[in-house]
Amino acid sequence: MTVCLGLICVLLLVIIIFITAKRESLLNSYKNTVEEINQTINNLQDNYTDLTQKKLELENSFNSLSQKKMELESKVTELTREASKQGFFFISCELKSWSESRKYCRDRGADLVIINTEEKQRLISSVVKDRVWIGLSDIETEGRMIWVDNSTLNRGFWFRGEPNNYEGNEDCVELIPTNDSVNNWNDLPCSEKRKGICEKN
Ligand SMILES: *[C@@H]1O[C@H](CO)[C@@H](O)[C@H](O)[C@H]1NC(C)=O
Ligand SMILES: *[C@@H]1O[C@H](CO)[C@@H](O)[C@H](O)[C@H]1NC(C)=O
Ligand SMILES: *[C@@H]1O[C@H](CO)[C@@H](O)[C@H](O)[C@H]1NC(C)=O
Ligand SMILES: *[C@@H]1O[C@H](CO)[C@@H](O)[C@H](O)[C@H]1NC(C)=O
Repeated sequence: MTVCLGLICVLLLVIIIFITAKRESLLNSYKNTVEEINQTINNLQDNYTDLTQKKLELENSFNSLSQKKMELESKVTELTREASKQGFFFISCELKSWSESRKYCRDRGADLVIINTEEKQRLISSVVKDRVWIGLSDIETEGRMIWVDNSTLNRGFWFRGEPNNYEGNEDCVELIPTNDSVNNWNDLPCSEKRKGICEKN
């Protein structure tokens, strides 16, 4: 009986030691697992923070690109409108009187150029290299300059002292390109020979 009890005690002891060891190892592996999971969660949080930051940056650059795109689109629209308003220019190669130069333009579906903005005046002044006829004259009524579309002159880009109708015989207008001024128009006799600058709309 005593021996029996002793054996049972030993057996119980063994079982308890075994369970304790098992429990210990389970606890350890549980701890490890928790740490791993914690580590993973920390990594994910870091990655999430990173990604949130990246997302913000991308949103910002997207917004600024959208803004740029809109600006460019409106610029294109504006330029297209400007271009369609101005048509395009060409210059006759031969020297002709004002009327013959005008005929040269009209034969090609154009007319002598009308310059009604400073922008256009600058543009034309920068492209022409020679003295050219423009579409302005006071042939019809002395002292009343009109454009070839019969519109009146609002703003002239005259040389100082021009138009002077020198010797009462200067009814047509030429543009003389210079580097230093936008004011480069001169009136002179319509029979003088010049190249002409045509504009086609
Ligand atoms: C998980 O990690 C954080 C930061 O490293 C730490 O402060 C926390 O004590 C950890 N938690 C556990 C349960 O390990
Ligand atoms: C966090 O991102 C890195 C790359 O940036 C990746 O290697 C790692 O696996 C990610 N961590 C988690 C937990 O997804
Ligand atoms: C300009 O007026 C003249 C008559 O003065 C006319 O013959 C001509 O057709 C008109 N031109 C335009 C473009 O209206
Ligand atoms: C205008 O400038 C060009 C080059 O810049 C030069 O060759 C030309 O002689 C200048 N013309 C006048 C009238 O000053």
